Amino acid sequence: CADNKKYRIGVSQCSQDDWRKKMNDEIQREIMLHEDATVEIRSADDNSAKQIADLHYFVDNDFDIIIVSPNEAAALTPVIDDIYRKGIPVVVFDRNINSDSYTARIGVNDYDLGRSAAHYAINILGKSPTAIEIFGLPGSTPAEDRHVGFEEKFRANGGEILGSAPGNWNQDTAEHVADSMLRLHPDVDLIFAHNDRMAIGASEVAKRLGRDSIRIIGIDAAPLIGIQAVADGVIDATFLYPTEGYRLIQTALAILKGEHYDRETVIPASSAVDSTNSDILLLQNETLEAETDKMTLLKRQIDDYWDQHSSQTILFYACIVI
Ligand code: FRU
Repeated sequence: CADNKKYRIGVSQCSQDDWRKKMNDEIQREIMLHEDATVEIRSADDNSAKQIADLHYFVDNDFDIIIVSPNEAAALTPVIDDIYRKGIPVVVFDRNINSDSYTARIGVNDYDLGRSAAHYAINILGKSPTAIEIFGLPGSTPAEDRHVGFEEKFRANGGEILGSAPGNWNQDTAEHVADSMLRLHPDVDLIFAHNDRMAIGASEVAKRLGRDSIRIIGIDAAPLIGIQAVADGVIDATFLYPTEGYRLIQTALAILKGEHYDRETVIPASSAVDSTNSDILLLQNETLEAETDKMTLLKRQIDDYWDQHSSQTILFYACIVI
């Protein structure tokens, strides 16, 4: 840019997992296209205290903008309120806070995702099915919203939720929870897990307990985990939870440069990924990865070219001076 300013963008992720890795890769790819910006991504490893420390790190080190996916809404809201009030722009994405102290927010309609999951369940199971629910992390907004959407739609069609317990978004906890709930409910038709990792864990437990006929639905559809699990018949369906890392960087830069941006972006819920479309989606992903690799290579070659070009130019002028 004109004054050579490098915009420093801090990204605070609440967790580290397949879904976030996909998003972080998208962020890193997008930043390659902006010579005037750098990004640093920190992960809080599911720990709200660590995330608060990460946010302080960005403030103390004079980052120009902070992008944050808050682990738990209640724990993170006061800190984000405070940063926003100091005048530092904040973009909240994926998980929300309990206030509107942000410059922009980008999220998915999790309530609709829950409804879509219930709609799919009713379609495959018929009227009046029973379910157990493996909840995400209580107090994180996608879990709360997916729960409400699912429960409403499932109940409206005569479905009954026999039990619901937190799996905290991770596979190990989900396995414990699935084990006790499946033993408690020997005839349940469906497991609805708030993400694919937990759905895959529940599937392993169901298999161990000889409960092969139980249907299992997750959310995320990260290609190598969720969609692969559907293609392998480990779970029945998943729903795409878009990552769109590029959008975060574009929004942050628009804010910093005083350009137009949307304060609220709600990405609509998607339709199901199941055995009818999982293979084609995996294939599409392979093509996309190959194209992305080519783009990365091209960018590296251009950078190398410019590096060589500028060192040769320096050498040339040095020779003239001598
Ligand atoms: C990834 C994740 C996803 C889930 C999302 C909700 O960290 O746990 O599996 O859909 O966060 O915020």
